Amino acid sequence: MRFGQFDDKRKEYLITTPTTPYPWINYLGSERFFSLISQQGGGYCFYRDARLRRITRYRYHNVPTDAGGRYFYIRDENGDYFTPTYGPVKRKLDRFECRHGLGYTKVSGKRADISAECLYLVPLGTNAEIHQLTLTNEGPRPRKLRVFSFIEFCLWNAMDDFTNFQRNFNTGEVEVEGSTIYHKTEYRERRDHYAFYHVNSKLAGFDTDRETFFGLYNGMHEPEVVEQGASRNSVAHGWAPIASHSVDVSLAPGESKSLVFVLGYVENPVAEKWERPGVINKRPAKQLIEKYSTPAQVEAAMQELRDYWDDLLSRYVLESKDERLNRMVNVWNPYQCMVTFNMSRSASYFETGIGRGMGFRDSNQDLLGFVHQVPERARERIIDIASTQFADGSAYHQYQPLTKRGNNDVGSGFNDDPLWLILGVAAYVKETGDYAILDEQVPFDNDEKNTATLLEHLKRSFDHVVNNLGPHGLPLIGRADWNDCLNLNCFSETPDEPYQTTGNRVGRTAESIFIAGMFVGIGPEYATLCERKGMAEEARRARSEIDKMRSAVLTDGWDGSWFLRAYDYFGNKVGSKECAEGQIFIEPQGYCVMARIGVETGEAKNALDSVGERLATPYGIVLQNPPYQTYHLELGEISSYPPGYKENAGIFCHNNPWIMIGETILGRGDRAFDYYKRIAPSYLEDISDLHRTEPYVYSQMVAGKDASGQPGEAKNSWLTGTAAWNFVAISQHMLGVRPEHDGLIVSPCIGTEIGEFTVTRKWRGATYVIKVKNTGTSWNRPRLVVDGSPIEGSLVPQAPKGATVHVECTV
Ligand code: GLC
Ligand code: GLC
Repeated sequence: MRFGQFDDKRKEYLITTPTTPYPWINYLGSERFFSLISQQGGGYCFYRDARLRRITRYRYHNVPTDAGGRYFYIRDENGDYFTPTYGPVKRKLDRFECRHGLGYTKVSGKRADISAECLYLVPLGTNAEIHQLTLTNEGPRPRKLRVFSFIEFCLWNAMDDFTNFQRNFNTGEVEVEGSTIYHKTEYRERRDHYAFYHVNSKLAGFDTDRETFFGLYNGMHEPEVVEQGASRNSVAHGWAPIASHSVDVSLAPGESKSLVFVLGYVENPVAEKWERPGVINKRPAKQLIEKYSTPAQVEAAMQELRDYWDDLLSRYVLESKDERLNRMVNVWNPYQCMVTFNMSRSASYFETGIGRGMGFRDSNQDLLGFVHQVPERARERIIDIASTQFADGSAYHQYQPLTKRGNNDVGSGFNDDPLWLILGVAAYVKETGDYAILDEQVPFDNDEKNTATLLEHLKRSFDHVVNNLGPHGLPLIGRADWNDCLNLNCFSETPDEPYQTTGNRVGRTAESIFIAGMFVGIGPEYATLCERKGMAEEARRARSEIDKMRSAVLTDGWDGSWFLRAYDYFGNKVGSKECAEGQIFIEPQGYCVMARIGVETGEAKNALDSVGERLATPYGIVLQNPPYQTYHLELGEISSYPPGYKENAGIFCHNNPWIMIGETILGRGDRAFDYYKRIAPSYLEDISDLHRTEPYVYSQMVAGKDASGQPGEAKNSWLTGTAAWNFVAISQHMLGVRPEHDGLIVSPCIGTEIGEFTVTRKWRGATYVIKVKNTGTSWNRPRLVVDGSPIEGSLVPQAPKGATVHVECTV
């Protein structure tokens, strides 16, 4: 069942009912000020850090879910009132529509001939949400309405905000001047920032105290002030500061009027904090307000936003006969990649914004999905990440975005982490040709006195594996590898302690075949970079280490029909036919085949056939099989989950594209594309009632075939490495257009279903228009004609900046 539809022309998803199977959200903001917004206007905003600078309050775990947002209560003279977002009032609407677009959301609702449309956006270069409310009288008689706005302030530190009531009920402070409500809690002491909510109209009244506005025992659906029709001009002292304006709007039949609200954040230099004792300096707020006080200014900001996205999305454009594929490749997948770039894993409807910092491995993989859109920012991100690496090549597992420092609670010891840096840097260099980044001096552990070139960082990453091999010559796993929940040295028996970081045994036995596959797959990127920098000897050394690892995998990492997952603390096999449970895991099959291990000798095909037989389901490929039925001390968190969920045999969408890419390496494009369609959200639109999360973005996890609940039900949408990897799988491997050091590879392998297609790729300043005659039969021998002349092989040479290159490809 569907709850809306894609509007491809406007690059929007149009939701036609307010009661979607789960809140379907969007993100606003692209630089420093960010917001989450659901189809009912729920969500919150923050400045840079969702934990430390949260501007509005949101209640995770609320009943009903999705409580708190930006609401407009529209009240008729006769006392009837409604919210055009449906919630929180939930009075019947005669029409409802929500359009989630790129960086903006528009919700409209109609009741009793009054239509109310609200456009929400964060303009470029602006630390504010703009809410433009347009009211239209669609009826035959003149109407007198009173509009009540509502937002609730968070007392900045989101963690403290929902734990420390004994203090927080005393600290809240506001100021009201004209049509602006200022939130200045803690500004009297150490903060130099405040928030404000303004409307471009005279007020009938206002409220800033939550209890006064709602009434202590009322819910958000029945504010006392709205019921009674008049604001009380309350000024919050402690308790819960909010901002609510009331504005009178008279509408003749057919008439429309717009109100523009600005919900902004500003900082003042310490010396300029006050206008006079106790009164905040409002100058920066007023400057911001002036920029957005008319609908024309809002429209100009919208146009800028559209141009910004059109530009970002113009770098890889697909035209094919499959509109579901086009909309994933051209709009929604790259959009999700940019959101993961901005948010990492911090704030979504499944991540509270107070938990995790930026992951070392997550950030490197996210980069694969956005590097072609914002290469300059990818460069900056790489330097930030590399600065949290230790001199021995290991890395902090996470770092904090505000300070950019490594996170000591989690520490290091996830032995896959360092290799992802090589992958991220290689992707950046292939995209940009910026070899100079390899010579940048980058600190270890943020210590400016201890620096080395970025290339030296990559060497340490590479050697961290070489220096940490176990009994079979395979990489030691440490606390965990990509699978955070495979904790082979942990043995945790105490509730509440983290699985990964407590109780680590000092063992040098537990080995990961997954990291081995990564090493063989990613290591050559390092060797190539060395060659490019004239370090032939180092490149040779690296390649010989890679060769050794390849044979170690084939000797001790092969289980007969698939690759083993690991050896545990005791040296026992994990992911073997000899195991009672957890006999086969997806990750090593994906990465070892991506690394081309056993492609010539048959193991690769055997492994992916086993994946097809044992792990594939209609909703995607599960992580392992059979699931663990009981908790295994020696395996850790993986066995803590009920069967079919998360890392215990859930469909962990992040690793599905590794299998798709593996299939293209074997030339089985039909199989790759089939797996793609099982998890790509646009193909799941018709089963939205089962899938539940947004049909325009990937979720991290879908319940697997062994789930005792509902197989196919997704959780944790938006912030997942799934976005980047699926973009890589479809755009670079199935559609087959990917940057290399000296040119663009054009080597599609997507099977027969898609037929002919065209990819327009902007790369290093030139435009490549690639027309593919795809018969799906000669995947390993693409025939290329470049600007009229046939070429050998599959590499289209780099063209000068400004050039347009026409490529015809027959496969
Ligand atoms: C989560 C983490 C990621 C990890 C994966 C598998 O998505 O963010 O780092 O690799 O789970 O455990
Ligand atoms: C938990 C989650 C896993 C995630 C990890 C991050 O283990 O189950 O998915 O990657 O936390 O630390």
